[in-house]
Amino acid sequence: MIQTNQLQYTYPKGSTISFPDFEISSGDKLLILGPSGCGKTTLLHLLGGLLPCTNGKITINQKDISTLKSKEMDQFRGDNIGIIFQKPHFAQALTVAENLAFAQQAGGKKTDKSRIEHLLSKLGIIKHKDRLPQKMSEGEKQRLSVAMALINKPALLLADEPTASLDDHHAFEVIHLLKEIAAEENSALVIVTHDSRLKEEFKDHILTLKSI
Ligand SMILES: Nc1ncnc2c1ncn2[C@@H]1O[C@H](COP(=O)(O)OP(=O)(O)OP(=O)(O)O)[C@@H](O)[C@H]1O
Ligand SMILES: [Mg+2]
Repeated sequence: MIQTNQLQYTYPKGSTISFPDFEISSGDKLLILGPSGCGKTTLLHLLGGLLPCTNGKITINQKDISTLKSKEMDQFRGDNIGIIFQKPHFAQALTVAENLAFAQQAGGKKTDKSRIEHLLSKLGIIKHKDRLPQKMSEGEKQRLSVAMALINKPALLLADEPTASLDDHHAFEVIHLLKEIAAEENSALVIVTHDSRLKEEFKDHILTLKSI
């Protein structure tokens, strides 16, 4: 479903970060672990087509994403990829349900209220449906980020430090939900994190990055 080949990224005036090759099948999962500054967010942004790779190749659903022009990449991302960012991105003037409806439209889909309600119920935040995101706790916002990333049923779900600010109980709750929903929807799941608590949840599906 996703394969990387000799990936490298160089920030303008920065040093070059090289990433090991990996491959993930549909519905499979991978935990990418590494210390702060080793390039985890950079790798996630490369996989999501938010940054162009300097060298190497990323293939998603048989498509070499480096061949896509910016607009084509936006369309491809809308159709195939959901991203949970390190910092949540919501429209603060829209309610929780409106944010999700907006994400559906941005992904070229019609508003599907039953899909919105299904995810909000599954994630335990249905009572916030008609409230503004800023009225929610940090953990609830994190769950809304999960709903935003999943709304268009992506084949690939990318998550950047989804548990970093959570205590043990909530960290495992979020990970269990991510694994469960990804499995239910047959989405491949890639998590990048420095949170080594998650190792036990991913056992032989772990890739460790070294510091640069
Ligand atoms: N816009 C930028 N310009 C230049 N260098 C950058 C830029 N963004 C990140 N870097 C550098 O690239 C390296 C990787 O950064 P990245 O954000 O991918 O790390 P990370 O592993 O996600 O760290 P953290 O665990 O703290 O989130 C770091 O050394 C960082 O200083
Ligand atoms: Mg990061």
